[in-house]
Amino acid sequence: MSDEFYRIKRMPPYVIAEVNAMRHAARQAGRDIIDLGMGNPDQPPPQHVIDKLCEVAAKPDAHGYSQSKGIPGLRRAQANYYQRRFGVELDPEREVVVTMGSKEGLSSMATAISAPGDVILAPSPAYPIHTYGFMIAGATIRSVPTTPDEHYWRALDNAMAYTVPRPTVLVCNYPSNPTAETVDLEFYERLVAWAKKNEVWVLSDLAYSELYYDGKPTRSILEVPGAKDVAVEFTSMSKTFSMAGWRIGFCVGNQKLIAALTRVKSYLDYGAFTPVQAAACAALNGPEDVIAQNRARYQARRDVMVESFTRAGWEIPTPPASMFTWAKLPPGFEHMGSLEFSKQLLQHAEVAVAAGVGFGEEGEGYVRIAMVENEQRIRQAARNVKRFLAEHAR
Ligand SMILES: Cc1ncc(COP(=O)(O)O)c(C=O)c1O
Repeated sequence: MSDEFYRIKRMPPYVIAEVNAMRHAARQAGRDIIDLGMGNPDQPPPQHVIDKLCEVAAKPDAHGYSQSKGIPGLRRAQANYYQRRFGVELDPEREVVVTMGSKEGLSSMATAISAPGDVILAPSPAYPIHTYGFMIAGATIRSVPTTPDEHYWRALDNAMAYTVPRPTVLVCNYPSNPTAETVDLEFYERLVAWAKKNEVWVLSDLAYSELYYDGKPTRSILEVPGAKDVAVEFTSMSKTFSMAGWRIGFCVGNQKLIAALTRVKSYLDYGAFTPVQAAACAALNGPEDVIAQNRARYQARRDVMVESFTRAGWEIPTPPASMFTWAKLPPGFEHMGSLEFSKQLLQHAEVAVAAGVGFGEEGEGYVRIAMVENEQRIRQAARNVKRFLAEHAR
């Protein structure tokens, strides 16, 4: 009997898990670790959303299987959100599906639309599901850069010219996890034109749709006229409403892709718990000031993080969006590599960050620092970093 399972063999060790295990062990040993590693919001969702969850959960008829593609009210709420926020019209019946978090949506989409041997274009560095979702489905990844400059377009053209079989799907993710890079509407216009010309489906991951700073709202690929011919977009309640554990996300756009995803999901799941979906409706249909307050909180943290880390001797960039800064290893640490640096930072500065190499080989030389602790803790992290850098210099 073989234990060389086809899919398991294709999955390298999850790098981030190594630092997570160390963080867990340090905490068990009573050490106060400042956790800037995972993108896990530290705030609760708005109170009216929790109230709605409790209200609906108290109903005796709310506990059966729900609808795999999402209850109609939630699909309508998402369509209304796209209309309000991006001016994009969506048919809640055929162009919207509710997913159990956007991560599940992306992986079910990979299952739905790719076969062993298919070639998928995915960014590097990338949020792991952008590559592993397809690798688990048996497809092959051809990496393209994450940075949306001219190299990016050359890489896309080269991929089409030199890859056999021709790539069928492109994943893009702006604001990027991990690099926090953003794009403007012109980028999406060019991408839609490129995808049509090359007959490639586009999956856009817009998980950080509402975490943008300095008054520059993120754009949706679906704002481009005709984008629905080739693209779908994934969004998430996790960061916008601090509902990461609730597992609610969406996929919207091209009807054929939505139908394929809906079909696969109908075999795999019964949808999220109905009270969770009802509460998600309350979030999307409710007051929008909570979204602005959430954004303001992250922007304030970002400013404190950039200022205090830079003063501590580690110059980190100011992200225009997302909940991360993507920082080069400090001078003198480059030789160590991002995984060893992250381990040392945890050990000696009691600060957890995510090693860049965990996001693909192009992530080596960087770490991702998440703004998921309060300003006071971020300042404390900067003081610890300063001490660590000074000790290392000695
Ligand atoms: C870019 C990106 N996409 C998707 C996800 C997954 O979000 P969800 O909680 O909706 O599954 C994350 C979570 O960190 C993310 O950063």
